[in-house]
Amino acid sequence: MTYEQEIPAEDGAEPILDEKERTAQLYLDQLGLTWESMRGKQVLDIGAGLADFAQVAKRHGVSVTSVEKSPENWVHAGEPPTNVPYVKASADELPFASKCVDLIVSRSGPLTNVDDRQLFEKIYAEAQRVLKPSGELRFGPGPIHTAVIGWERVDPDNTFDALPELEKDRRIADESEKYLKELTPEITRQTGTSTDPEIPAQEYYCYTKPLESSAQ
Ligand SMILES: C[S@@+](CC[C@H](N)C(=O)[O-])C[C@H]1O[C@@H](n2cnc3c(N)ncnc32)[C@H](O)[C@@H]1O
Repeated sequence: MTYEQEIPAEDGAEPILDEKERTAQLYLDQLGLTWESMRGKQVLDIGAGLADFAQVAKRHGVSVTSVEKSPENWVHAGEPPTNVPYVKASADELPFASKCVDLIVSRSGPLTNVDDRQLFEKIYAEAQRVLKPSGELRFGPGPIHTAVIGWERVDPDNTFDALPELEKDRRIADESEKYLKELTPEITRQTGTSTDPEIPAQEYYCYTKPLESSAQ
């Protein structure tokens, strides 16, 4: 299927715009996922915005529950949809039982935008709690927020401001990866692709919950 191909609508709904399809497909490619691999799974999208991802997923036979802290912020762009599961909740207090989710995805969501270290760690712990053993958390693009990494780590010798822009991006990405490795050694970084030498490839992250885990 090409990105431009229109997906037939179900239930007489309007066809999904190519742009949403294309965005969702690029996201899946960067995360290393396919629609096929997600079918039949319990999937959460945290920081889902207008639930565009869940809407496209539905067209591919994949059920995604969108979790969004502030749906009211999206009203200007159109009401959050009613044809896919949509839950108002914060990612650090998920209204789901432990060990019931196969996959959590988050695109530019709270794990990369939050500027509070404690909140970041709470969101991480909550994701671990709801995941089934072998369940996965895939999020990005990174790096994680510099306030979470700690500015003193990003700029230990007070030279950051004088660095070339590309070097600044690399430094933040490296610290982000180190921070995540300290937080959870199971984390892996997947570097996406960039065709522009001036723009570093974006970082995506994957955590797989171990079969035997201390998370409830
Ligand atoms: C940059 S938007 C991305 C929206 C969507 N994932 C997309 O790719 O279009 C980030 C979203 O995360 C939501 N968010 C921020 N903190 C959150 C939290 N703690 N729990 C759930 N959602 C949160 C924001 O309200 C916002 O809608």
